[in-house]
This record gives sequence, C-alpha cells and structure tokens, in this order.
Amino acid sequence: MKFETKAIRLQTDRSQHHEHSTPIFATSSFVFDDAEHMRALFANEADGNIYSRFTNPSVREFENKMAALEGGEDCIATATGMAAIFTTFASLLSSGDHLLMSKAVFGSTFKINDDYLRKWGITYDYIDPLNMEQWMALVKPNTKLLYLETPSNPGLDIIDLEATSAFCKKHDMLFIVDNCFATPYLQQPLAFGADISIHSATKYIDGQGRVMGGAIISNKKIIEQIYPFMKNAGPSMSPFNAWVLSKSLETLAIRMDRHCQNALQIATWLESNSQVAYVNYPFLPSNTQYEIATKQMKAGGGMISFELKGGIDAGRKLIDAREMISLSANLGDTRTIITHPASSTHSKLTPEERAAAGITDGLIRLSVGLEHVDDIIADLKL
Ligand SMILES: Cc1ncc(COP(=O)(O)O)c(C=O)c1O
Repeated sequence: MKFETKAIRLQTDRSQHHEHSTPIFATSSFVFDDAEHMRALFANEADGNIYSRFTNPSVREFENKMAALEGGEDCIATATGMAAIFTTFASLLSSGDHLLMSKAVFGSTFKINDDYLRKWGITYDYIDPLNMEQWMALVKPNTKLLYLETPSNPGLDIIDLEATSAFCKKHDMLFIVDNCFATPYLQQPLAFGADISIHSATKYIDGQGRVMGGAIISNKKIIEQIYPFMKNAGPSMSPFNAWVLSKSLETLAIRMDRHCQNALQIATWLESNSQVAYVNYPFLPSNTQYEIATKQMKAGGGMISFELKGGIDAGRKLIDAREMISLSANLGDTRTIITHPASSTHSKLTPEERAAAGITDGLIRLSVGLEHVDDIIADLKL
C-alpha cells in the first residue's frame, strides 16, 4: 500500500455494528471474561486491553498508522510532543550517561536538560548541527545518544540524516530525530538510519490546531524499552485525541502538498523583497543546505523563517500590521501563523543560548497555512 492509502485504510477491526468510520473507544478500562482471562492478561500471556493508560484501541490505531507511515516497527503515542521527548529520555538514559543534542532545538527540549536531566546526573553537550567535525571532540565513552531536529525550529537548519546516522553507528550511540516539521509524508528518518523518530502530533499531524499529541516510532526492541515508562508513569494519549489524530492522518498527504506549495511561493516572494535581509526555507535553491534537503525530503514543508533589514522594530511592525494571519505560538495549522521566537517559543533561553541556536531578536517564524496564497502574501504588508 502507498502512503496515502495506508493513512486512510489502516484502522481498528470493525465491530459487530459494521461501522464505516472507526468509533472512539472512550473507556478507561476493559472487562475480562473471567478470572483466568484477567490473570492471563496481567501476566502478559494473552493479548488484550486492560486499562487505557496501558493500551486503548483508538490509541493503538493511531500508533499503528504512525509506525506504518514512518516505516517503523512500532510506535508509542503520548499526550504531547514534549511527553514523547521526555518519555524517550527517561526510558533510555541513566545516571552517568551523556547525551549530545543539537543546539538548534525547540525551547522546552532545552529545558528538559537543564531542569531535569542535570539533577539526575545525566550530562549533555550541545553540538553545532552543521559542523560534524566539532561533534567528534564532544563524544565521550558514556555518550548514549544524539538528538536533533531537521528541519529545526525555528532556524530550519537541515542536518544530513545519512551522515549523522553513520557517525552515531561508528560511536555506538542511538540517533533520535524530532521529525515534527517534516512529518512522515515529507521525511522518514528511519529510512536514513535514525533509530527513533519523534513527533509533536499537535502540529501537522493534527493540522487543524485542535488537539495535543506526541509519537515515538522505532523498532520493536527500542519501543519495548520505552513502553514500561509510558505504562507506569502515564504520559498516555487520550482516546479522543488519538481518534482525532487518526482522522487527521487521512488528509496529511494532501494537506502537506498544499502547505509546501504555498510556503515555497511565499519564501520565493520574500527572498525577492528588498526589505527582507534573509529567508530560511529548505527548498529555496539559494539555501546552503538545499542539496541535503532535496536528498532527504520530498518537499520543503510549511515553515519559513526570515528577518527584515529593519531588525526587531521592522518585525514588530509587520506582526502588528497583519489582519488575517494569526499571532500565535502554535504551528502546522490550516491557518497561517506568525510568531516571534525570541519573545515566545524560545524566550526561556538565555540570549547566549538563543544566539547559539541562530535565533536573532529580529527573526520571524511563519507557519504557512492552507488559505489562498495570494491572501497570505497580501496580509504580509511589506
Ligand atoms: C520541533 C518541536 N518539537 C516538539 C515540540 C513540543 O510539542 P508539544 O507542544 O506537542 O508538546 C514542539 C512544539 O512546538 C516543536 O516545535
């Protein structure tokens, strides 16, 4: 089956009611046939649902679809994207371990290191994602994993997945990719050698700004290592959100095609505007990482970041002049959203950390929506 067909046709087994669209299994627990059935389920001697913190058919449908679309063996769905990241770290890292993380990652991901991993005796170093030679000096005998985003939020750095995977294999560490900006439709990190692909499903997977969710996709062995934390600590996805997200996956391909088409047109227009200092968009031929982007992504995605020549003041003027575009911290919505990362998504970072991540005070992030592209351009009053 092709991507689009899997996204539509993989679903929970039909019930005795012969429903066409899958129902929501809105139940916290499940009943057992008898005492022996209950014992066997708890002893892992039989397959079946016990309690929705552990497994739920609506959640399982979403997990199975995500695993199939990412080319992974299995998936764990979580309440949010941050829950997916934290669950992965909490399951795979122990006191005394070291981790390498790209310095260009989402603001809350940094906070996990500073506020939690550090106090649990896990050390970390930030790597310049575009300078692999520098990584070498930071690898330690106890380095357990390398984590990065590509494209990154908000700088849209593109990191060579194949080369990074080879580096991680050589140094015997796990390679984890936050694939949130690309979605499995545009990029499948596991096919390029990554061990784990992580999503904030809140973004393009939902695509309509309604529900929160996260997903961890990997091989069965790694998922088995992560699952006990999910089951016992409980960052589980709600059945309702899973049902919404499964439905959203049915339209992911056509939504992403239009996000990409609109974004490329807007990025090209911005680049030609005399008030724009620079534009970051993976599929602009002028992008220094264009070759890598076109090697590992099907299209450039819906995110653009740029800076105006007038810096922060000009950026604020642009934000306040808009009439239709939403000023919001989310991304990956049908509605175009404009954000100022330095004062919102990355405001908890120190100015030095922001500078290291390439987030200048004047940087504007645009999540290009599905409105008509002429209306989006008209609302960017340049
Ligand atoms: C790249 C990336 N990863 C992870 C997250 C966290 O996702 P969530 O807000 O669903 O917890 C975000 C949120 O913006 C993000 O942009």
